[in-house]
Amino acid sequence: MSEVLLMGPGPSPVSHRVRSAMARPLLGHLDPRFLAELDGLQADLRMVFESSAALTFPISGTGSAAMETAVVTLCRPGRRVLVLSCGVFGERIAAMVRRSGAELTLESFPFGTPVDPDIARRRMQEVAPHVVAVVQAETSTGVRSDVDAIAALAKEFGADLIVDAVTSLGGMPVHADTWDAAIVYSGSQKCLGAPPGLGPITVRDGLVQNQDETRSWYFDLGLISQYLGSERLYHHTAPISMIFALAEAMRDLREEGLAARFARHRKASAALRAGLDVLGLHSRVATADLLPSLTVVAPPKGLDETDLRRELLLAEGVEIAGGLGPWRGTAWRIGTMGEGARLQPVLRTVASIGRVLAHHGRAVAIPQAGSQAAKTWAETD
Ligand SMILES: Cc1ncc(COP(=O)(O)O)c(C=O)c1O
Repeated sequence: MSEVLLMGPGPSPVSHRVRSAMARPLLGHLDPRFLAELDGLQADLRMVFESSAALTFPISGTGSAAMETAVVTLCRPGRRVLVLSCGVFGERIAAMVRRSGAELTLESFPFGTPVDPDIARRRMQEVAPHVVAVVQAETSTGVRSDVDAIAALAKEFGADLIVDAVTSLGGMPVHADTWDAAIVYSGSQKCLGAPPGLGPITVRDGLVQNQDETRSWYFDLGLISQYLGSERLYHHTAPISMIFALAEAMRDLREEGLAARFARHRKASAALRAGLDVLGLHSRVATADLLPSLTVVAPPKGLDETDLRRELLLAEGVEIAGGLGPWRGTAWRIGTMGEGARLQPVLRTVASIGRVLAHHGRAVAIPQAGSQAAKTWAETD
């Protein structure tokens, strides 16, 4: 199978170092050499989450497993939970909260807009929630919400804050300590530059000790802590190769530095938007709310957008994604995440989309789109 350039909303391309880490000989989950690797990974995750919390580690499972861990830890019958949603992933949190038996209040903001802190404040006044949940980077719309503002509100109202940082961690600042968030979680396959399969999570110190037993055995943070702590008690078999891969991806990140990594994501998304603009594909998101990791544009009118994406994948070897929820059929979601957040993949994506449009009779200026993308890359800080 030839290699596909993964420019959708995840999984994103991974480095050769990460790929070869997955091919390393296996170790046992109690082997001291594996445990040293896991300890190092935990320290690196604290760095990227900006968290000092001891319980910072990769959940065995994808981002949704980390989401479920957050929900089962904090939400149960008798608790009021306010979910501030601006897309499909906010709604997914709400669906999990509903199953937890907690009293859910779902505040949904229009697709393509962020959480409005004024409305969030009013809802907190009305609901007096025990828990507030928000998605920092909403992958269904390409919109960022102001978690600084929401965290300040949660603190003012004495609520435990859950932050979904699946499409933000490693691509833009996440401030777990400053937010005083109860739980922040992510996924390995986006801006961290590892394959899917792990859900990094950070849990405020003291939170687990104060919790009753959760309804989930697998996602019981109290039980999992006994494996991560000095007791090293078996809970479940750690996914060794996945952990090697994420540890390697975090080494890449540490060597690059967080500030440089964020700048690379900003440059890549700005370059992509500039190139797509020349091709006549314009962003659906207001400038102030743009994500550095995901660009959402309106697909060309008058052509079948699924056919175009299929041709892009099969003829050009470039994967992008269509819209979700109400934006199904009316949005293209193009990622600039991890190894995809570099000039070459952006230029290849712009040129490939241009060729597919030209093949369908559209007059597009492919060289100009490329040079505008390269110029914007150079000019963006
Ligand atoms: C914001 C957000 N939250 C949660 C998830 C769920 O992650 P996963 O698909 O890895 O389970 C995703 C996946 O794209 C996401 O973008």
